[in-house]
Formats: sequence, C-alpha cells, structure tokens
Amino acid sequence: MAYAAFRSIGAYAPANILTNEDLSIMVNTTDEWITKRTGIKERRIAQKDETTSDMGVEAAKKAIERSGIAKEDIDMVVCATISPDYFCMPSTATIISTKLGLGNVTAFDISAACTGFVYILSIAKAFIESGMKKNVLIIGAEKLSAITDYSDRGTCILFGDGAGAAIISATDNKDEAIIDVHTGADGAYADLLMTPNGGSGSVHDSLDQEASSCFMQMKGNETFKVAVRTLTKDVVEILKENDIESESIKHFVPHQANYRIIKAVGDALKLKEEQVVLTVAKYGNTSGASIPMAINDIYEQGTLKSGELMLLDAFGGGLTWGSALVPFSPLK
Ligand code: UT7
Repeated sequence: MAYAAFRSIGAYAPANILTNEDLSIMVNTTDEWITKRTGIKERRIAQKDETTSDMGVEAAKKAIERSGIAKEDIDMVVCATISPDYFCMPSTATIISTKLGLGNVTAFDISAACTGFVYILSIAKAFIESGMKKNVLIIGAEKLSAITDYSDRGTCILFGDGAGAAIISATDNKDEAIIDVHTGADGAYADLLMTPNGGSGSVHDSLDQEASSCFMQMKGNETFKVAVRTLTKDVVEILKENDIESESIKHFVPHQANYRIIKAVGDALKLKEEQVVLTVAKYGNTSGASIPMAINDIYEQGTLKSGELMLLDAFGGGLTWGSALVPFSPLK
C-alpha cells in the first residue's frame, strides 16, 4: 500500500500591511481592543489586481522547488479557498495549474473555509493511498480583503490575505507517512459564519451589485465558544485514537483565528509555549491559508526539521473542523 508523505511547504504574503492603527481610522476600534481580544497586530492585503490564484502560484512555486519533485510529476492540484478568482467557475486550482504550466492534470477547489487546508490534506492522502495519484499539490489561498466589509468592526479587524502550499507524495516508507487526518462538519451552525448574498440561497431576486456582494458576516462570540469546544475535542480525540501523547508533538499548528482560542486549546492539551506556532499577530486570520502560512514560517525560521511531528487543528465556516498528525518528511 502507498502512504502519503508531507514533502514540502511554501507560502506567500502580500507586501502591503494593514495595521490596527490603520483600522482605527476606518472603524470605531482601537489597537488596544484588537490586541487584547484577538492577538492580531497587523495583516497583509493584496494589491487590487492581485488575485487569489496569483498568491497561490507564488506559494506553490516555493513548495514545488523545495520538494525536489519535478513539476511534470505533479498529477493533481487542489485549492482550498472561500475567495476564489471567480464566483463558481473556473476553479482557482485550474488557473493556478495553468499558470504553473502543470499540463492537463486534475484540478479542483474545495470550500471548507478555515478548515480548508486540513480538508485538502485528507483529499491528497486518500488519492495517494488509493493509488490514483502520486504527487499532489495542495494550496490554501485567500484574498479575504475582497469579501470583507470594511465598515463592520466585528469582522474587518480579523482577516487578511495570503497563500500557502504543500506537496504531498506517495511513499512506501510508513515512518514518513501522514498518520491521520480528521474532518467533520455541522451545517446546523451554518448561520454563525457566512456570506449570505450572491448564491442560490440569497434572499435577493437578482444578482445585482448589492445582491452579489459576498461580504462575510459572523456571529463572533458564538463562533468563538463553539471553536474552543470543537477544536479541543477534536485534537484530544486524534491524539487518543493514535495513542500519541501531547509531549510528542513538536509543533502544534492551529488555525490562526484568535490568540485566545489558540491559548485555550493549547492549555487544554497542556502544551508548552514552544510547541505552539503563532502567526496570528502578523497575518491575522487568512482562513484556508493560515495553517500552511504558519508551517512555512517555522520552516523558514529553520525550526521545522525532517521527521518532526506536527499537529494541525482547524475550525471554520460551515461549520467545519479538522485535525491532522503530520510528520515533516522532505526528500532532501
Ligand atoms: O476563522 C473562523 C472562525 N472564526 C473565529 O473563530 C472567530 C471567533 N470570534 C472571535 O474571535 C471573537 O468573538 C471576536 C474577536 C470577533 C470578538 O471578540 P469578543 O470578545 O467575542 O467580543 P464580542 O463580540 O462579545 O463583543 C464585545 C463588545 C461589544 O460591545 P458591547 O455590546 O459589549 O458594548 C462589541 O460591539 O466589543 C464590541 N466590539 C468591538 N469594540 C471595539 C466588537 N468588535 C469590536 C472592535 N473594536 N473591533
């Protein structure tokens, strides 16, 4: 049987920085409030003409180069995004694949909001273990600034833009393999976090400018409580099912939504500070891009070494959630 190995990571963050001070001019908020309630200090914002696929391409180029795998050998591209280049079609994955010159390989997007990267990891793992694909490029890419309402202080302080990508490859060495991926969802909580307009569920009669605006809306405080409960339950279960103690986790890489959520889950698992990867202060919440951007951070700092075990943990609109036990298994 083939196993799936996490070979490489890459990420891209736009240069333009939006600080808490900048936001305090735009809406009724302060740096103090945002820092205290979220841990966020700044986030990156893409250029007007910079698309989700442009950012995904930059992240993917790095992941491919670092993987040591020829781009001709990539046989599938999956992109997790809630801010695609185009509403409905074409998928952002097909655009990324073509911009990278990957040929006519399978390419599609999935929608699992902030859990997107864990979902595409599970898809890559399943395709590889079934023998259908050998080298899968997975990308979490978001231009959330395009769907953020910058007059709503409850959401605009949270979100930023960016992309992260990884190469997942077949191996027959079980020691290199992704150990487990959990994914779950509950549509009963759909209204906590949504883009209510523009789709077939929209209350508007036509796709006029107002109706098709896809701004995110969130019941922040309720989402916060469900997030802490769900994230903690999921990581406790994945560790227990795989008979792994939390001390064996070298890097806990949670979705970067809010420092207080991350702290609550880390404390529940009795994780030490040095085990917890944090990028929320500098990138804010980049939804499906947040976990791969955080993994890229520890890779570029030189603190992610071959063979080290990562625990990924995510939660987002849908509601969706997921976790994964992933050894870092580069070829070179
Ligand atoms: O990534 C996917 C999942 N998303 C999340 O996990 C996000 C989860 N939610 C959160 O991170 C937090 O709920 C927020 C950061 C969004 C909000 O923090 P909170 O501590 O839950 O605040 P709250 O919504 O309960 O609001 C408390 C007060 C309210 O004022 P009143 O009614 O007490 O007078 C809000 O109007 O804070 C007010 N408020 C603000 N004040 C200054 C809300 N946003 C702001 C703001 N600046 N930006």
